[in-house]
Amino acid sequence: MENIYAAQRDFWESAVNTRRSVRSYQRRAVPDDILQFLLDYKNAMHIPFEHTVDIREFKSVEGRQLANNLRKPPEDNLAFIADTDLLSFGDVGFVGELIILFATGLGLSTCWFGHYISREVNALVPDIADDEAPAHGMGARENIGRRVVCITPLGYWEQGGLRPVDRLTARMMSFKRKPIGERLIGGLTERELQPEIAFALDMARKAPSAANTQHWEFDVSRDQRRVTIAKPKGYKHLKWEHPDVCAGCCAAHFWLGLQLQGIQCSVNREARDGRVLWEFVF
Ligand SMILES: Cc1cc2nc3c(=O)[nH]c(=O)nc-3n(C[C@H](O)[C@H](O)[C@H](O)COP(=O)(O)O)c2cc1C
Repeated sequence: MENIYAAQRDFWESAVNTRRSVRSYQRRAVPDDILQFLLDYKNAMHIPFEHTVDIREFKSVEGRQLANNLRKPPEDNLAFIADTDLLSFGDVGFVGELIILFATGLGLSTCWFGHYISREVNALVPDIADDEAPAHGMGARENIGRRVVCITPLGYWEQGGLRPVDRLTARMMSFKRKPIGERLIGGLTERELQPEIAFALDMARKAPSAANTQHWEFDVSRDQRRVTIAKPKGYKHLKWEHPDVCAGCCAAHFWLGLQLQGIQCSVNREARDGRVLWEFVF
């Protein structure tokens, strides 16, 4: 299969480096041709494993908020729907983050929301009823069938509309990432990494995570032919119930980093020790 990522390396690399969570939007629809381009990519995107993630476009209602800090959502939004087992949470992160990066490359702003307003979103996304949902997001529940795991708005940043708290968040959180070395386990140091692995891990560490906790670990084998990515064993997020979604985003960035360099790899993921363990072998 043609490697579309390597052929468009600048597009993807700059999407990783410029993507920021945006919580303040103009009420402006995404032009039809751009939306169609995004949906075409969604339908054609190559994902290196079988999954149950479905991405649906939905329109918000003007004047109604979709999350506590998304008071004025844009017209267009995406819902990430999937089965609710552990592996599928990881898959939502992987598949969802690739579409978010593609949208970024098309000049659109986005933001992952796990804590969307359930009543509002479930009413807007067809065929997903969830009468028992908590007020925000799908809660800690697992194995309850298909649900909206996360959403993202899709639109244009309303810079002037930022509330002070968002301005602070934008300044304090975006860009702030831990160095690779801080997340490395398994004995190798950052200086010992081959340049190709270091590049892919640099992409990985820039992935988004709920409240920017960056709760992932990189385990690089001595011969540097195998890398695993997962949240630490027993890790619990203070507020967000499904931190494996974030590890999935991180795995997508790492995989993309390999693709951009034309490095073939096999991707295996398994639920082990209460978390999704992503394994890349090349
Ligand atoms: C799975 C996931 C869920 C998130 N949920 C929320 C949310 O409910 N509300 C919110 O304001 N931000 C949410 N975020 C956005 C993070 O706060 C943001 O990605 C992080 O602070 C890093 O900032 P950046 O995306 O600008 O790099 C979520 C991010 C991820 C990956």
